[in-house]
Amino acid sequence: MADVFFGIAFGAGFIVGAGEDLRHRTLTPSGFGWELEGYEPSALVDAFHESGGLILIRDQGQLTPVALAEFAAIFGELEQNEKYDTEFLLPEHPEILRIGNLRQKGRYHSLFTRADPPPLMWHCDDSFRVPQPLGSCIWCVETPPEGGETGFAGMTAAYDALPVETLERVEGVMTTHSYDYLNEYLRERNPHRLPLSDALRAQHPPVERPLVAEHPETGRKSLYLPKCHIESVHGLSPEDGALLLDELLAHATGPDFAFMHRWAPGDLVVWDNRCTLHAPSRFDDVKYQRLLYRLTMRGEQIV
Ligand SMILES: [Fe+2]
Repeated sequence: MADVFFGIAFGAGFIVGAGEDLRHRTLTPSGFGWELEGYEPSALVDAFHESGGLILIRDQGQLTPVALAEFAAIFGELEQNEKYDTEFLLPEHPEILRIGNLRQKGRYHSLFTRADPPPLMWHCDDSFRVPQPLGSCIWCVETPPEGGETGFAGMTAAYDALPVETLERVEGVMTTHSYDYLNEYLRERNPHRLPLSDALRAQHPPVERPLVAEHPETGRKSLYLPKCHIESVHGLSPEDGALLLDELLAHATGPDFAFMHRWAPGDLVVWDNRCTLHAPSRFDDVKYQRLLYRLTMRGEQIV
């Protein structure tokens, strides 16, 4: 984690950029990630795209589940979390998935995945699924006093900064993303996690995805490398494929394009799964509780 910028905000103060209605400050030196100072709903989607696919709004502790759902629906139709244990969903709000270590009578009542120590598990949500959720929205309910941060990295800015030799190596390369591959990877670290059911495996067969994705709304290219979902890089041996992904990840999650977000209750974050990566970091889940509400939105797919 030492190579990741660990800050509250990069920009000195809130500014109004050209052509926007919202005051913001950037969260990385490359300009990826915007913290907004309040928001006007009609300007949010433009800000989302101009930020490179990550916006943060603090101090939203007053939101009710209904208001949270209305906010997330600005970005796309809400998904209903059919693939999760219903115990993980907020009662009467299947669009809200609880993430964290909430336990009652020895059972998790939230989706709990113990984070890897560095290197972090950089990913975008459900790239192995068709349709992939266009974006995810998280509202922080409770956070430990230390640990449990989330890293965010901008894949468009990272792509734009690639040297020409690397661009030539990645252009046109296809990969296979697999839910089963991810699940087995997670099970090695999380024995409480079940193997995929036959029904889920049949519902989510491996899918081909480009290593360089074009954003369907902005037309911009970005690296598309949730390594823990990528079963194979076409045309390369498993070893060479892993080396290429590691090399690209080291670049794309460096301090120009990535930062660690230290959560506070009431933080509201929306990211674009088609052009960003995120990564959880560890916390002491015996001593502390962490709880986030996550909503995912449907929309245009990468091309
Ligand atoms: Fe995630």
